[in-house]
Formats: sequence, structure tokens, C-alpha cells
Amino acid sequence: MSYSIPAEKISEIKHGADILEIISDVVVLKKAGRNYLGLCPFHSEKTPSFTVSPDKQMFYCFGCGEGGNVFTFVMKQEGIAFPEAVRFLAKRYGVVIIDQTSGPGVKKQMDERELLFQINRQAMEFFHHTLLNPQIGTPALSYLTGRGLPSSILTDFKLGYAPPGWNHLTHYFSGKDVALALVEKAGLISRRQSGSGYYDRFRDRVIFPIFNTHHQVAGFGGRVMDDSLPKYLNSPETPLYSKSRSLYGLFQAKPFCRQTGEVFIAEGYMDLLSLHLHGIQNSVATLGTAMAEEHIRLLKGVSQKITLVYDSDQAGIKAAQRCIELFKAHHQLEDIRILVLPEGHDPDSYLRQFGPESFKNAARDASGVFSFLINVAIKKHGLSLEGKLRIIQEMEEPLSTLTDGLTRISAIKEIAERTGIDESAIQEKIRENSPRRPFRAKPAEKVPDAGNKFDKHLIAMMLQFPEIIPELIEKNLIEYISDPLLKSTGNDILNSYRDLDNIPEQVNDLPSIVLMAADNDDKKRIIAACSIQKEEWGLEGCRKLMSQIERNQKRDNLRLLRQRIKVAEESGEQELLRQLTKECLDGQVSAGGR
Ligand code: CTP
Ligand code: MN
Repeated sequence: MSYSIPAEKISEIKHGADILEIISDVVVLKKAGRNYLGLCPFHSEKTPSFTVSPDKQMFYCFGCGEGGNVFTFVMKQEGIAFPEAVRFLAKRYGVVIIDQTSGPGVKKQMDERELLFQINRQAMEFFHHTLLNPQIGTPALSYLTGRGLPSSILTDFKLGYAPPGWNHLTHYFSGKDVALALVEKAGLISRRQSGSGYYDRFRDRVIFPIFNTHHQVAGFGGRVMDDSLPKYLNSPETPLYSKSRSLYGLFQAKPFCRQTGEVFIAEGYMDLLSLHLHGIQNSVATLGTAMAEEHIRLLKGVSQKITLVYDSDQAGIKAAQRCIELFKAHHQLEDIRILVLPEGHDPDSYLRQFGPESFKNAARDASGVFSFLINVAIKKHGLSLEGKLRIIQEMEEPLSTLTDGLTRISAIKEIAERTGIDESAIQEKIRENSPRRPFRAKPAEKVPDAGNKFDKHLIAMMLQFPEIIPELIEKNLIEYISDPLLKSTGNDILNSYRDLDNIPEQVNDLPSIVLMAADNDDKKRIIAACSIQKEEWGLEGCRKLMSQIERNQKRDNLRLLRQRIKVAEESGEQELLRQLTKECLDGQVSAGGR
């Protein structure tokens, strides 16, 4: 491999990093026996099949087959390569890695994100200091205090001010010897259309830094202080920032979401800050973009119950419809509520006028996605006979997207209750009106499915009860595995085992050593699956399995022999026939007949 992080550092991190702690950051885990279970962050599921084993320091999803150790998890979750994952964990656990000159390509790529984060952090400090600088920052400071934000919020969220003018950041970063091309890549400056040089993206705006879940500065938002347009300007999509993957305030909200088991999703920067200020800190904001798949992924780890807050029925309806699509795969739809504030109010203005208690009361009464849509329809069409028919018509579309039978039935029930129309009549109506639309079944999930049951057991046994390996080598059982991937995995285990030189404490670490050495993802999945599976292998089980495999083996051999005998008979090769028959009889004796 071409990275240059010393092996002992990797091992230090591996032993220092706790997979449970790392995964708990992003997935809600519940203890189930020796393992922990949660909803898989890598595929859509409603019933937890994502398993974490603190003993083995591995994870495996029985739904989608994703699995591995703490490094694999960070790589998948953060979308980064191995060396970056190592650094990520090193930082988190205070392991110092001294940079050695390494393959230039790898190092460059690995360091670039680091550098971009550094640049963003420096820019954030620059904006923040400018805000607090009485000579330059006063208009911005009075704008923010005028909007009711105390200095605690300004510092907690590191708000800032980008002064008027075109060259502040260019000067600032040139002075620090930072390559301007990188500052451009961070989305802070743009190349001039004509002539040479760069100009600042954010000018004369108050600045809202956007943190990722690790408190790194991913991007910025900037608001004008008057009525000019655009009101808000955000960082462009960069290697660090993507609007559909960012939730403003998530870093600060996380502990509060965990504590309350609930999260509010608002739309704007000021809304989020206002919610925080009023003690509703379990809140995040989506920043001028609709809820996206990635947002849900980010939230999945922090709370099950989600309340979306909107400032109009129209926005609420759009969101509700989208939610049905987005959430049905990830959450129980019942856990999603939609809170529409009175006409003309966003969370910020509502909280200022009515206070947090009133907000919390309204939130308590917020309706689920379907009830919300039904309410809107009733408001719109009234409950005359004509109106009721319209309501049913309007609910057809959202109903038809519900693939889950139970949710669908309870939704129909609710329409029936609210409109006073018979359930079966509603069902009838919907069937007759909608073009036949089959329920879209989820595609079958892929589980690494190589080989037969026994072969997989054999691998599990080696990983979970390495003491048996010498016996297994003696019987040469790996040779009989027919699936090439499992066989090669088996041989990898043997190799790692031989390398251990029988140091007893290391033997327990075999699964993780094999995992680290595995050279492809499918193997890694197999190793994780076999290490983590529920059956525990002990001596007795191993012996049973081995003799079972041997018996199967002999049976297969006999079958083969019989075929050859038949051929020999047909072609009249007497000598061969005699020999094969003898072999066959010997085999039958030791295979226990038949
Ligand atoms: N937004 C944006 N770009 C715009 C307008 C809005 O990115 N040109 C995003 C911002 O994140 C903003 C959110 O959409 O916070 C909601 O917009 P809006 O309701 O117009 O603003 P408010 O959040 O109410 O902001 P303010 O109270 O400061 O007017
Ligand atoms: Mn507002």
C-alpha cells in the first residue's frame, strides 16, 4: 500500500478507537445481548439489522452486507480513503502522526481536505474578529443585536462579518502564504472574469459559519443587512460543503436531540439561532433547500422523532408530500410531524412574539404527515358530499405512495374517521380512480451470499475459535471449500494465523487482524459477517462441524466415484472399474455406509 502512516500508529489507533463510540455518533444503538443494534446508515431500513460488536470491534449489517472495523466505518460514513480515515481517528483519539514524505498523489489528496478545513477555520476567525472589531464591525454587530441575538449566541455560533470591499480575504490569505487556488476551492474567493486575480465572495454581509458534525467549518452563509438581493448567499458546492448534506446547527443540537429524543427542523439561519436562544436547542435548519436523503441520514443517528416547522400551509404541504417519499424507507412515518405556524410567522418571529412555551404547545399538537394533509384538504374542500369526494381524490396520490400495508390501512382509517365516509367506500373509490399502480416492492437487499452454509460456518469457526485452526490445517479442510472467495478468505485466515506465531493474546485478535489484511471489500464483508454472527463457536461445535464437513466431502467423493464407475462400465474398462469399485467400497466404510 502506498500510504506512509507507520503500522504501529495504525495499530495504536485501532486499539485506542472504540467502534461503539464512533458509530454511536451517527447511529442510535440499542444493546441486544453482547452486540448493539441500530438502523443501518448505509441502506434504507425500518427494522434494525445493523449490528455492532464491541468485543470484536466490528460492525456488520445483516440487511445490506456492509461491514468491517472502525476504519471501514469511517471511510464509508465520511466518504474518505483509508489514510484519511486513519488521520480522522488519530485526531479524535489524540494519536500524533508525524508526516513522512509519501507517495505525492495520495498525500496531496489527503491533505487537501485538511487544508481546506484549515482555510475555512481561518476565514471564520477573520469574519468573527471583524464583527467584534469596533472600527469595522459595528453596523453588523448592531444588526445582529437588533435582531435579538445576545453575545453568547454570537460566540457559540461564531457569527461574523465580511466587510465591504473586494480583496480582504485575498490579502489575508496571501499574508499567510496560503495558495489562493485553495481559497478559491474553499469557495471563499472567485477568479476575476477579466484580468487576473480574485475577488471576495462574501462582501458586506453578516456571516454564519456552517459546521459539520465534527465541528469542522464546512461552509458559510452570509446575509445582507438591508433589503438588497440576494438576501442570503451561501458557499458554493465544494469538496467540504454540499447544501443537501448540511444541517445548520446540527453540531450544537446533537446532545440536545439525544437527550430529548426529538428534533425540530426549521428552514433558516435566524430561525435556528432563535430556537436556540429560546431554549429549544434540539433544532437544526435546512438552509434554503428541501429535505434530502442525506439530511435524513445525518439525523437518523440523533433522534427518531422529527418535527418539521414551516411558515405556511403551502410549504408544509410540499414538505409533507416529500416526506412521505423520503421518510417511508427510513423512519416510521408516525414519527414525523408537521408544524405550521400561524400565517406570516417563521419560528424566529413566532418565538419573539409568543415565546417558547407557546411554541412547545403548538409543537405538541403538531399532526403527523397524513393527518396534516387531511386537515389541509378538509380546510380546502369542506365536508359537503362534494367536498368529501374531493378530499378522497386529493389523498389518492399520497396514499398510493405508501408501500407499507399497515401505514396505508391506518391512513385510510383516519380519512374515514375525519370525513365520516366508510373505509371500504374509500378503498373502493381509490381503486376505481387510480390507474393500476402496483406497489413498488423494495429490491431485494444484497447479502454476501457466496458458498454453501458449511463453508461459511467453517470461516466463522476459524475466526471465532482460532484454537481449532491447527486441527483444521491437518485435515486440510480449506482445500475443500468450493467457492473461490470463501476459499481465499480461508487461506487469508490461515496466513494471518501463521504470522501470529501462536502468541495467545494475539489469537483473540485474529478477526480484526484478518480484516485489516483483507484485500477486497467482499472479503471484508464476509469476515465481518462471520466474526459477528450470533452463533458462538466452541470446541464441541467445531468438532461437530468438521466431521460433518468431512462426511459431506466423502459423500461427494463417492458420488463422483459412482459416476466414474458407470462410465468405466459403459466403456468396458475392466482394470479401471476394479480399482474404482475398491475405492468406492473403502469410502463407504469410512463414510458410514450409503
Ligand atoms: N435562503 C437562501 N438563499 C436565499 C434566501 C433564503 O439560502 N436567497 C435560505 C436561508 O438559509 C434562509 C432560509 O432560506 O435562512 C429561509 O429564507 P427566508 O425565509 O427568506 O429568510 P429567513 O430565514 O426568515 O431570514 P430572515 O429572518 O433573516 O429574513
Ligand atoms: Mn425570518
